[in-house]
Amino acid sequence: MQTILITGGTGVIGRELSVKLRNKGYRVAFLSRTTGKNGDIPHYYWDLDKKIIEKEALETADYIIHLAGANIGDKRWSKQRRNLIINSRVESANLLFDKISEVRRKPEAFISASAIGYYGTTTSDKIFCETDPPANDFLGETCQLWEKAADNFEKLGIRTVKIRTGIVLSKQGGVLPKMSIPTKLGIGSAIGSGRQYMPWIHIDDLCGIYIKAIEDTQMNGVYNAAAPDQPTNKDFIRILAHVLKKPLWAPAIPSLAIKIIFGQMSSLLLEGSRVSSEKIIDSGYNFLFPSLENAFTDLLSKK
Ligand SMILES: NC(=O)c1ccc[n+]([C@@H]2O[C@H](COP(=O)([O-])OP(=O)(O)OC[C@H]3O[C@@H](n4cnc5c(N)ncnc54)[C@H](OP(=O)(O)O)[C@@H]3O)[C@@H](O)[C@H]2O)c1
Repeated sequence: MQTILITGGTGVIGRELSVKLRNKGYRVAFLSRTTGKNGDIPHYYWDLDKKIIEKEALETADYIIHLAGANIGDKRWSKQRRNLIINSRVESANLLFDKISEVRRKPEAFISASAIGYYGTTTSDKIFCETDPPANDFLGETCQLWEKAADNFEKLGIRTVKIRTGIVLSKQGGVLPKMSIPTKLGIGSAIGSGRQYMPWIHIDDLCGIYIKAIEDTQMNGVYNAAAPDQPTNKDFIRILAHVLKKPLWAPAIPSLAIKIIFGQMSSLLLEGSRVSSEKIIDSGYNFLFPSLENAFTDLLSKK
């Protein structure tokens, strides 16, 4: 039985991915800031400041999936928060690299999360693809450093894959439950101009892409993970209201209000361009949920 070690496995993506991996017969272990067990999943301990990783975690790992990182949308981006967002992703990858360099048994692949923030928080009609350069705003720089830290693993002869992820739609957390609340109350509305694109991906598809990255040895380098159908914010809210069978009458929330509430982080809500899903589709991945309406219907139906 092969073991998949997931850093930050206790988060929204890791929890769902671990269920799917275990259903496929893999052993899953988490590398976490807390020890113990979550059901049958062992939690190995790591401490980024003390540069500690429980040795058994690395000695048993056939694959590593690196999801750990301070949440990007939880708190305002103070200088301290920006440093934490970067270090929790980059220093954690560097610590893994140092410790893996020391052990004899290397994992077969290192698969790291990244984000479509690589291309920058701007609104344009350009469809960004994997060969485009990084933006020089905060998220662009963060993703660039995050991916560079992952690239180090190639020096050890380890296959390395980076998943530039769009907005993940899941029932268990992230933006969907938050955005659904006002719409369910009948007061949903677009944000700002409503013209910003929202590249999204259903959690099942994202997990499918991670599993493919484990099993398909041809996968190497960077892949965008966003559904082919990429709505604007206005379309997103319209389709959400339609699926929830709720009226949509409220005026858009003014950009200024969002900027006052969220500061620099408001760019996450107010800006967005499309990203291409061509490379991951060409690699043989078939989206289960290519359309937003189907994704909402699946995620918001009472099951
Ligand atoms: N969800 C999305 O829409 C989305 C979109 C694009 C990219 N991503 C990326 O995908 C990864 C996983 O996303 P997610 O939504 O599952 O995130 P999440 O729910 O916020 O979970 C991230 C996990 O990272 C660990 N973590 C949190 N703060 C940390 C810190 N300061 N230092 C080290 N570890 C820390 C935590 O695990 P422990 O408490 O067990 O240590 C946490 O459960 C993230 O890197 C995220 O940026 C997510």
